[in-house]
Amino acid sequence: MNSVSDATRRRQPDNMPLPSPFPEGWYFFTTRKELMKSKLIQKTWMGENVIAWIDQNGQVCVADSYCPHLGANLGPTKGGRVCEGRLVCPFHGYEFDTTGQCVATPFAPPPKTAKLGVFQTREIAGLIFAWWGIDGREPQWDLPAESPEQTGWSGLKVKTLRFPGHPQDTTENSVDLTHLRYVHGYDNVVRVGRLVVDGHRLESDFDFRSVRQIAKFATLTFDISAITRVYGLGYSCVEIYEHTIGMDLRLWILATPVDGKLIDFTLVSQAREIRKPKRFIAGLGFLPVRLRAPIMNSFMSLQQVHDVRQDLVIWANKEYRSRPRLCRADGEIMPFRYYCAQFYPDSAGSVTPVRAARNGSAREDREAVGVG
Ligand code: FES
Ligand SMILES: [Fe+2]
Repeated sequence: MNSVSDATRRRQPDNMPLPSPFPEGWYFFTTRKELMKSKLIQKTWMGENVIAWIDQNGQVCVADSYCPHLGANLGPTKGGRVCEGRLVCPFHGYEFDTTGQCVATPFAPPPKTAKLGVFQTREIAGLIFAWWGIDGREPQWDLPAESPEQTGWSGLKVKTLRFPGHPQDTTENSVDLTHLRYVHGYDNVVRVGRLVVDGHRLESDFDFRSVRQIAKFATLTFDISAITRVYGLGYSCVEIYEHTIGMDLRLWILATPVDGKLIDFTLVSQAREIRKPKRFIAGLGFLPVRLRAPIMNSFMSLQQVHDVRQDLVIWANKEYRSRPRLCRADGEIMPFRYYCAQFYPDSAGSVTPVRAARNGSAREDREAVGVG
C-alpha cells in the first residue's frame, strides 16, 4: 500500500554502503622528487592531517601534523620548517628527527616522551607510500619487496586527478572486463588465465586491442597484453606489453582516500627504451633512441588520463551495489569483493566475509579464485 516505504525496504539489501572510506593498506603519499623539491609537504591523507619531510641522508618521515608538546600545527604554511634534516615546530622550537623523536629544544633537554605519531613508509621507484592501519595497527602485509629495474626506462610521468570516489570502486575496474569494451571502446578483450588471489595480492591479466584516432586523420591500432598486480586498494601496478610496436610500459594506479569523500587518483607511467620499433608510428623511428621512450610515455600517459576521465564520470556519480545483479560476462566482480573484505577488519582484526550475490555463495567464490 505504501509504495515509498516498500520501495525503500526493497532497496536496502542491495545498497549497503561500503564498510569504510579508509580501507586498511599502503597508500601513496608523494614522490621522493617532490619531497626533495618542497622539503616539507602537508596534506589531508586518509582523513588525517599528515606531513612528510626528508633529511640530508634521504630518510623520509611521514607523520601526524600536530606537535606532541602543545599541539601546534607543523605544516609549512603554519610556520613549520625543516632545518638540517630536522622538523622544527613554530611554537617553542622543538626539533624532530625522521624517526619522529624530539631530539632538541631551545631551552631544556628534550623530553623522551615527545615523539610524533609516525606512519611506516615504503618506497618503490621513487614513489613513497605509507601504511594506514585500522586503529593505528602495524602493517599486516607488504608491498612488493623490490623496486622494478629503472635502467633502460624513461623517467616517471605523474598525474593526479581528484574526485569523489572510493578506492574499492576504482580498483574493481581491473577485473571488470566488460567496461573496457563498453566505456573505453577496446576490442577483442580476452581474459588470460584465471584471476589469482593470494592473501593481499591479486593478479588479473587480459589482452585487448585499442584503436586511437590521432588528430582526425590518422588511426593507430595497439595490441596490448596487460598484467595487473594489485596489493590492496591503494596500489596497483600494470605491466603493459604493446605488440605491434614492441613497446613495454609500466603504469601504477594509486587511489588514495583524502577526506572520506574525495580520492586522489594518481597515475604514474614509464616506458622502456625502444631500440628497434617493429613499426614506425608518428615518426617514432626517426627520433633518437633516447627521446623515443619519454615521448611514447607522454603519449601513453595522455591516453591513460583520457581513459580515466571516462571512468571518473561514472565513479564520481555511482551508488555502491552490495548485491550487484551480474550477468555471465561479468566474471569476477564477486571474487574481487571477497578479496576486498580483508581490508576492512574490525578493531579486533577480524573480517566479515563478503557474501556472493550471483548464483552462489562466498565459498564458491573462494573456490573460483583458488583461495581458502
Ligand atoms: S607546540 Fe611544538 S614546540 Fe611547543
Ligand atoms: Fe576503466
